Amino acid sequence: MSKFDANATLDVARGERAVLIVPEFTGRDRKGAGARRSVEAQLDEAQGLAEAIGVKVAARRAYRLRAIRPASLLGKGQIEEIAEIVREHSAGLLIVDAALTPVQQKTLEEEAKTKVIDRTGLILEIFGERAASAEGRLQVELAHLDYQAGRLVRSWTHLERQRGGFGFLGGPGETQIEADRRLIRDRMAKIKRELEQVKRTRSLHRDRRQRAPWPVVALVGYTNAGKSTLFNRLTGEAVFAENLLFATLDPTMREIRIPGFDKAILSDTVGFVSDLPIELVAAFRATLEEVASADLLIHVRDMAHSDHDAQREDVDDVLAALGLGEGGPPRIEAWNKVDLLAGDDRTALLNEAARRDDVVPISALTGLGLGELQKRIGERLTQDDQLIEISVPASDGSKIAWLHARGEVLDQRVSDDAIHLMVRLSRDNWARFQALKSA
Ligand code: GTP
Repeated sequence: MSKFDANATLDVARGERAVLIVPEFTGRDRKGAGARRSVEAQLDEAQGLAEAIGVKVAARRAYRLRAIRPASLLGKGQIEEIAEIVREHSAGLLIVDAALTPVQQKTLEEEAKTKVIDRTGLILEIFGERAASAEGRLQVELAHLDYQAGRLVRSWTHLERQRGGFGFLGGPGETQIEADRRLIRDRMAKIKRELEQVKRTRSLHRDRRQRAPWPVVALVGYTNAGKSTLFNRLTGEAVFAENLLFATLDPTMREIRIPGFDKAILSDTVGFVSDLPIELVAAFRATLEEVASADLLIHVRDMAHSDHDAQREDVDDVLAALGLGEGGPPRIEAWNKVDLLAGDDRTALLNEAARRDDVVPISALTGLGLGELQKRIGERLTQDDQLIEISVPASDGSKIAWLHARGEVLDQRVSDDAIHLMVRLSRDNWARFQALKSA
């Protein structure tokens, strides 16, 4: 039987002791999200990710790196020290909070004599455990296979054929690797076909919803910012809200009450994280398609987190990468967890929020500020509405029904053969109505 297992996971026991390493790039490799955060915050976040797959971080350490060593990432002395820490704690896993090349991974595994996992692998593990819907699972598996395939190919060209470590790379010879590659390719092709099918069904659902007159509001935010808690509060539904990273992997949509609207739809989305591996961003594009078609984004921020500014930049980066920066849907920032702030910090934050009309301070936990948030959502959704007088032939019942469904009809008069309506319509719907007319 092949050593390759399409559903291969790390094979790490829950409660396994791990050593966590955060490389701190100081030279020209200093870039990206890491450059914006304190080392302590990076260690905390990486530990959170590690705990999310059920391992116990026995020791954690940051290493300053002036330059990246192609073969091992870290320097020789540093690796010796790490190997010593791994031995001391009898750790079954070494977690490196960076993207490792297959060569670097192998070197570290050999030197530290333990399994090694990098940030991409770690996030894939978490996504694999949490994905709940059929689509979520397919996407995670695809990203996983992509990651494995890269490793398999490169490990074949660069590495010795015999190696320990992960199951799917467990010492295969050339033929075995060829067979595994073919298996991965076949499986990926099959998943892509299945995903296309799922996507077609989803877009059908979305079209149907877009034809309905309800606006869609999407929650976005850094992982653990409090999106699910807010979602539950606003919708009165119990969604899986837990102090777990990425507890929400699949978009959840429910109806909410917003002043001035019959109803609106609120969508909870995947939490963002810094340095989200690009293949995962792609894999979760479908999830985030909900965000792209939203009428309004609510960016939920954990204002009690020491790195909330860096987190905001990360979320902005991901949104921009998805083409939702400038020109995307309008945004409101919900400054969450104000219940955790006290004294001057709290006062300063509330004062700043009061000066901005795109910010609402809230506590999703205590309910503070939620009425104001709902009011602001309503205002934003109707912000560029216009009051228009429209005359429709009395025989054109479908157009009149359309206007009643999409707009707010304030007045309606009947003359000989026409109906004259005074309607409040959003700019988009006015454009749609005009297209309808000339069709
Ligand atoms: P992901 O699924 O990882 O994206 O997380 P999320 O943004 O959905 O966060 P979630 O709602 O699961 O909340 C994360 C943790 O923060 C939970 O332990 C919540 O109870 C807590 N939390 C959320 N909102 C508040 C708040 O306003 N105040 C306080 N003190 N805790 C909050």
